[in-house]
Amino acid sequence: MPTTFKMEKNIIVTGASGMLGNATAQLLARRKANLFLVVHRKERGEEVLKSVQAEYPQGNHKLYFCDLSDLEAVSGLAVNIAKDAKEIYGLIHTAAMLSKQRRENSNGFELMFATNVISRFVLNRNLLPLLQAGQGRIISVTGPSPDRLNFTDLMAKGKFQPFLQFRMTNAANLMLSSVLARHLQDKRVTSNAYHPGVLQSNLMKQMPMIVRLITFPFGKTADQAANALTKLALDNQFFNQTGLFFKFTKVMGSPKNAQNVSDQEQLWETLQQLTKNISYQGKG
Ligand SMILES: NC(=O)c1ccc[n+]([C@@H]2O[C@H](COP(=O)([O-])OP(=O)(O)OC[C@H]3O[C@@H](n4cnc5c(N)ncnc54)[C@H](OP(=O)(O)O)[C@@H]3O)[C@@H](O)[C@H]2O)c1
Repeated sequence: MPTTFKMEKNIIVTGASGMLGNATAQLLARRKANLFLVVHRKERGEEVLKSVQAEYPQGNHKLYFCDLSDLEAVSGLAVNIAKDAKEIYGLIHTAAMLSKQRRENSNGFELMFATNVISRFVLNRNLLPLLQAGQGRIISVTGPSPDRLNFTDLMAKGKFQPFLQFRMTNAANLMLSSVLARHLQDKRVTSNAYHPGVLQSNLMKQMPMIVRLITFPFGKTADQAANALTKLALDNQFFNQTGLFFKFTKVMGSPKNAQNVSDQEQLWETLQQLTKNISYQGKG
């Protein structure tokens, strides 16, 4: 667990072209962080980089292109980041996708599970030395999914229900965040999950109409959600908080299923098995 407040602030934001990721990157740059922006579309990434540079021109900002569904590319991303930084102060996972058809990545993993969950696991694992050096904070953005993971079919090979599978990835990220906090105790790295409330983003536009209608009145602006996320990433008051699920800057309890410790450990073991052949060197 971190013991001192570090001044060097290299912060990785995945999904930096998304609604929350972009707003968060701008606010972090305004607070003089060096932004390591992870995107998968070149033009959009360059726009985000430009606006971050405008916020903090002295910053050592970097842009990385990576399709997070490609786990070898995720390993390569970690290698490339390690070439550019000796320490990482924050790793903020905002990237996520929803696919209405069942698709697989090159490892045969269901695409949402690979992109939203396994890529986070691999990035955390491969960047751990840099996070330890930076007394880093890992923040996993996710939603309060009440679902229990179906370990017999994590890749939804049986019945594929896109919104259920998406919620499963949220549940898995909540669980992963808790188990990581436990495993990282004494490693000077914290791990928390963050719920940004309801944002009318591209991701939300793919939700069923009923979900959009029910949640519409509770909508927040990206700046409100990004402001709280920036505080969790930078403020002293959060520097040793770990294993928590925040909604804005308040702790909210995870749904009961996500708190099940033996399920959390089973998920950890499963992800270790699934990624044991993903090299640490990646595609570079
Ligand atoms: N919106 C909500 O109401 C809500 C509620 C709870 C939790 N969340 C969580 O908040 C986070 C941010 O979501 P958002 O609402 O800001 O959605 P968003 O605007 O759609 O952002 C998602 C980001 O993920 C990126 N992404 C998707 N697939 C990728 C891939 N294969 N490789 C690399 N990047 C990829 C997208 O890049 P492109 O734009 O280039 O595709 C985009 O930058 C997500 O983790 C989401 O689960 C959102």
